[in-house]
Amino acid sequence: MNRADERKRVLVVDDVRSNILTLNEFLKDRYIVMMATSGEKALDLCFSRFKPNVILLDVIMSGMDGYDVCRKLKAHEETRDIPVIFITSMNEVADEQYGLELGASDYIRKPVNPDICRIRIEHQIKLQEVRALLDNDKNHLEQLITERSEELNQTQDITIRCIASLAETRDNETGNHILRTRSYVTFLAEELARNPLHKDFLIPGVIDILAKSAPLHDVGKIGIPDSILLKPGRLTEGEFEKMKLHTLYGGEALLSAEKKLGSNSFLKFAQEIAYSHHERWDGRGYPRSLSRNEIPLTARIMAVADVYDALISNRCYKKAFSHAQAVDIINEASGAQFDPLIVSCFNNVKEDMRVRARELSD
Ligand SMILES: [Fe+2]
Repeated sequence: MNRADERKRVLVVDDVRSNILTLNEFLKDRYIVMMATSGEKALDLCFSRFKPNVILLDVIMSGMDGYDVCRKLKAHEETRDIPVIFITSMNEVADEQYGLELGASDYIRKPVNPDICRIRIEHQIKLQEVRALLDNDKNHLEQLITERSEELNQTQDITIRCIASLAETRDNETGNHILRTRSYVTFLAEELARNPLHKDFLIPGVIDILAKSAPLHDVGKIGIPDSILLKPGRLTEGEFEKMKLHTLYGGEALLSAEKKLGSNSFLKFAQEIAYSHHERWDGRGYPRSLSRNEIPLTARIMAVADVYDALISNRCYKKAFSHAQAVDIINEASGAQFDPLIVSCFNNVKEDMRVRARELSD
């Protein structure tokens, strides 16, 4: 690239050719001077590949006047940032104000003083360069923030999976149970989001956090002895009472994490789910015998997802049921164990759940 190519471009717009030539005389040493004798030609140049860096724009011209040109330039993203300096013989303050309100950067009155004109042009070029630097910094910062958020998201995901799989491994279940229940919760929540009652709450970001929280529902099983957790047969009443405590262990661990980290929706959902995924719609669940809408919606969704997966999986105390049997059992428990609205959502997405269960089978 030669030195001439590095010069900034100044577009001079005036319908009087001699005025352009005068300006050209004292600008041509320092700038590449582009010339237009009408508003239309000026706009053509501004939308071309070689855009000017600054425009010196006459206000009164036959055809499209300077104000119109300025209005059009400021209306397009492509040309909005090119600084416009009006050059005019009009001396009224109101005209100057009008031009500046249209988005012009400066105003020079005729007869033009060459030195002042060059200083004003330089001023605009400097401003443009500073703006470009700031934009670059802003883009760089935004990119850094995006990268850091992604890292944080991934770390959060991996941490959750690790903690959840610790609990699941002790329970002889597999990592796939975590992935399956996460998918079921997403299907159910997306279906429920179509209901006017819940559409404002279950927006995509919320469903995402809910799905992320789902794997932590049984995290409290870490506190249950192997003799109970891995017992092949039926639990005694006393053992079952101890087993029920996994809801409190999980819920309280997440509650204390929330106290340390401050309120955040991820821990709130995880906590609701851990505490209340064994509550029943009819109030006969545990640990707090909540009923109907007293049970957090997140936990009501989790209850259906968790039971469906338990039904279709082999567990140490039972063989797997078929998908059709699981569907029947869940429907029979609608209005007793489960929120009927969530069971109706389940019926709409059960095929998706069946396919996902097969994809992620143990
Ligand atoms: Fe559980």
